[in-house]
Amino acid sequence: MIEFSLRADHPSNTKADAVAVAVHEGQKLSWAAQELDKSSKGALAAALKTASFAGRCGSVLPLFNLPGVAATRVLVFGAGVDAALAAKDARATGKAVAAAAVELTLSEVTIFPLAEGAVDSMQQIVMGVSDATYRYDETKGVSAKPKPSLKRVRFGMPDDTAKAAAAALKVSVATVHGMEFTKYLGNLPANFCTPTRLGEEAKKLVKSHGLKVTVMDRKAIEKLGMGSFLSVTNGSEQPPRFIVFEYAGGKKNEAPTVFVGKGVTFDTGGISIKPAAEMDHMKWDMSGAGTVFGVMKAVAELKPKQNIVGLVVACENHINGKATKPGDVFTSMSGQTIEVLNTDAEGRLILCDALTYAERFKPRAVIDIATLTGACVVALGSHNAGIFSNNDALADSIIASGKKMNDRFWRMPLEEDYQEALSSNFADMANVAGREGGAITAACFLWRFAKKYNWAHLDIAGVAYKGSGKEKGATARPVAALVDYVMAGEK
Ligand code: BES
Ligand code: MN
Ligand code: ZN
Repeated sequence: MIEFSLRADHPSNTKADAVAVAVHEGQKLSWAAQELDKSSKGALAAALKTASFAGRCGSVLPLFNLPGVAATRVLVFGAGVDAALAAKDARATGKAVAAAAVELTLSEVTIFPLAEGAVDSMQQIVMGVSDATYRYDETKGVSAKPKPSLKRVRFGMPDDTAKAAAAALKVSVATVHGMEFTKYLGNLPANFCTPTRLGEEAKKLVKSHGLKVTVMDRKAIEKLGMGSFLSVTNGSEQPPRFIVFEYAGGKKNEAPTVFVGKGVTFDTGGISIKPAAEMDHMKWDMSGAGTVFGVMKAVAELKPKQNIVGLVVACENHINGKATKPGDVFTSMSGQTIEVLNTDAEGRLILCDALTYAERFKPRAVIDIATLTGACVVALGSHNAGIFSNNDALADSIIASGKKMNDRFWRMPLEEDYQEALSSNFADMANVAGREGGAITAACFLWRFAKKYNWAHLDIAGVAYKGSGKEKGATARPVAALVDYVMAGEK
């Protein structure tokens, strides 16, 4: 885990393995680069010229032994054209600087963000540093690489930002701790990350952080009457878990925010089996649960003055002789019956019972997070998650946090007109409608269980993981947006 902190020295007298300063396109120097240029009597600008440094975001030029500069190395990073960096560009610069530091086997670097938007940029740089230094090595075997050398990242902030910077840094550090935990759980193969393992991880998290947790087994879940949730577990040898995190930072009777995560540790589709291609992606079908773990970890670190509940519904959607068959009918905890026409639409079947359970908290808001539909991926691709909500103010706040953190959501319709497609001749509803508007009808199914409170549903199927390439793995979206959403409630 990288240690992040603030430091007050000026760029030129910062004693460090390296200082990182920004230069815009056209070799226009940022405030920190200007300072170094002055103390080095123009050596910085001269080096940029020799290197034809273009200043694009994501590029880094290492310089060594500049005269009049206390640090041994200067990492010049490109900052594009604008005075302030967009969130995405700031994150890319953080990633590039950290990667350069790792390449040079440095153990520390001090970064000086641009003056304009310095605090927001710093938050993104922290995430970029995490992007560059996060390693999955749990099951890498003999090819596991040594940990990256980088241990400490410090920020030299413009003087007028000191107080805001300290508060923001704390939030970002907790956010990346949460995100790295989310990635860890998501990237674990499904033969490691079972519902049982999630229960154990929940208990471990609580021990180190002073949250309260209850981990329920099949018997306890049966007692709650969660017939819809349990229908999904019929074909699996893995016992289910229902996990309830409770964080009490607010007044005793203050209504909590409840997060609900889909924790299907592997989704074969069940009898409505999935095609073979890329089925390995379905180990990430617990990414909603992973998000709840990440958010709870960050919350436990930040200790906001609010009450927050995290619910994780964990099971495996598998096939054996006891597996649910298309046409089977089950009774949900709400009393509503469901005809399972497609066993691959299992996410909604487990979430609906958790949404009913959430009623007991008399919540101010319930936010569920789920890799729910391929249709959402078709609709929005992998840049925006879908958001559906019965409350405009709630949707607006989540969307605003998403914009700020570049962890974006796009609002999708939640309208009664779509409900008809879920009608069944044999139960209160079917679990699937036709092909049309698949992400919307899935949301409409959940809506039937979320009538008693303000609710938002986040369909993260397209954003929770990268499915191929060098960066194949969990993204930990939307942990950053949700931590920001929680912390926005502190003001
Ligand atoms: N876990 C999948 C959704 C999914 C698809 C997540 C692609 C990530 C990437 C979900 O359980 C599912 O199978 N949904 C079905 C619903 C359909 C049967 C109505 C789907 O999207 O095909
Ligand atoms: Mn499925
Ligand atoms: Zn699924």
